[in-house]
Amino acid sequence: MTVLTNIASLVTVNANGKTMKTGASMRDLGEILNGAVVFDNDILWVGPMHALPEEYLSGDAEVIDCTGQTVMPGFVDSHTHVVFAGSRASEFAQRLAGKPYTEIAAEGGGILTTMNAVREASLEDIVANAEHLIASAMTHGTTTIEIKSGYGLTTESELKLLEAAGVMKEEMPIDVHITFLGAHAVPPEFADNPDGYVDVVINEMLPAVKEQGLATACDVFTDKGFFTRAQSERICKAAVEAGFGLHIHADEIANIGASEMAAEHGAWSADHLEFTTASDRTKMKDAGTVAVLLPGTAYTLRLPYPDARAMINDGLVVALATDCNPGSCYTENMQGVLSLACINMGMSIEEAITASTINGAHALRIGLRTGSIEIGKRADIAIYDVPSYANIVYHFGVNHAFSVWASGQEVA
Ligand code: NIG
Ligand code: FE
Repeated sequence: MTVLTNIASLVTVNANGKTMKTGASMRDLGEILNGAVVFDNDILWVGPMHALPEEYLSGDAEVIDCTGQTVMPGFVDSHTHVVFAGSRASEFAQRLAGKPYTEIAAEGGGILTTMNAVREASLEDIVANAEHLIASAMTHGTTTIEIKSGYGLTTESELKLLEAAGVMKEEMPIDVHITFLGAHAVPPEFADNPDGYVDVVINEMLPAVKEQGLATACDVFTDKGFFTRAQSERICKAAVEAGFGLHIHADEIANIGASEMAAEHGAWSADHLEFTTASDRTKMKDAGTVAVLLPGTAYTLRLPYPDARAMINDGLVVALATDCNPGSCYTENMQGVLSLACINMGMSIEEAITASTINGAHALRIGLRTGSIEIGKRADIAIYDVPSYANIVYHFGVNHAFSVWASGQEVA
C-alpha cells in the first residue's frame, strides 16, 4: 500500500462514477488542496489531508510526502502509431522547405516510406523502437496508451506490427490498447486497384487479426488521397460485425464525410477533425462518438486547428492525444500536447486536463477503470514537481513529471 500525503494540488478529475465529462463539467477538476491518496493496485482512499484515516499511516504502508507537488491521473494517450521503423527526418526537412505533406505522399513517400522500413525491419527492431517511445511517454506522465498498426500494408507485415504491439502490452507496465489500421494507405502493389486492397483488408487481414485476438478496435484513414467514404464504409461494417470498436482518422486533410460516417457506424471516436462541420458535430454528439483532437499534428503539418471551442460548446466528449508517429507528429509527450491545446485551440487548462485523462479513457471505452482518481479505479497516477496544475501548461517545454505510477506500481 502507498500513501501520498500533503499534496499541494490534488487533481482528481472526479467524474462521480461517470466515464467522461462534457461541456462546463470539463472545467471542474475536483481539485483538493492539501490532499492525500491511498492505493494498492487500485485507489483505496482519496480526500483532504485532515480527513485521512490514521490507520493508513500506522501500518507498513509506504508514505510519500508530496509537499509542494501536484498529483493528477496518468494521461490516457488514446491515439498513437508507435509501432514503426525508420526515420522521416529528411522528409521533415523537405516540408520545412515548403513541400506539402500530401505531395510527398503522392510521390510514394510519407506513410509508404515508413511502410518500406517496416517491411524490412525485424520484429525485434520494431519492438525496441516502440519500447523506447513508450518508456519516454511514461516518463512524461502517460499510464495508458493506444497503439495502431498501419505501416505494414500486407497481411504478414500488419500482423508483425500487431505482434510488436502485443509484446508492448505484455511487457510494458502501463495499459496498452491495440487498434488494427490496415487501411492507413493504399500500398504500391494496389495503386491501380485500391478496391482490391480494401478486399484484402476485409477478407484476409480482419479475420486474421480477429483470430490472433490482439486488437480490440479497427481504424481507417478516411480522407482525400487515402480511402474514400464508400471504401471506408465497407471496412467499418465488416469490423463492427467482427466485434471491433471503431476509431476513424477523419477530416484531417479534407472533409469527405469521414466524421459523419464514423458517427453513423457508432465509432468510439473520430480523430483529427481539422475540417469538421457543425452538422458533423451534431451527429457525433448524438452517436456518443468521442472527438479525439491531435494538436501536435496540426502544429507539425501547419494545418488549421480543430474547432475545440465549438466541440466543447456543443457538448461533445473532447479528448486529446499525441498521434505519435514518424511523419505528421513525432512526439510522445502529452504535457506538450496540453500546451498546444491551450495556446492554439483556445482550451482552458482544466479542459485540457480533462480531455487528456477521463475523456481519453472514454475514447478507449475504459472510463470505468482509469482516467480519474476515484475509489476503486486503477491507481494510474502522476506526481509533478509543481505547486499547481496550471504550471504544467504555463511553464512549457520541460518535463514536470516527478514520478509516475501505473496500477499502483512506480514505473517512471
Ligand atoms: O495520424 N493521418 C494519418 N496517419 C498519421 C500520419 C501517418 C504518417 O504520416 O506516417 C496521422 O497523422
Ligand atoms: Fe493518426
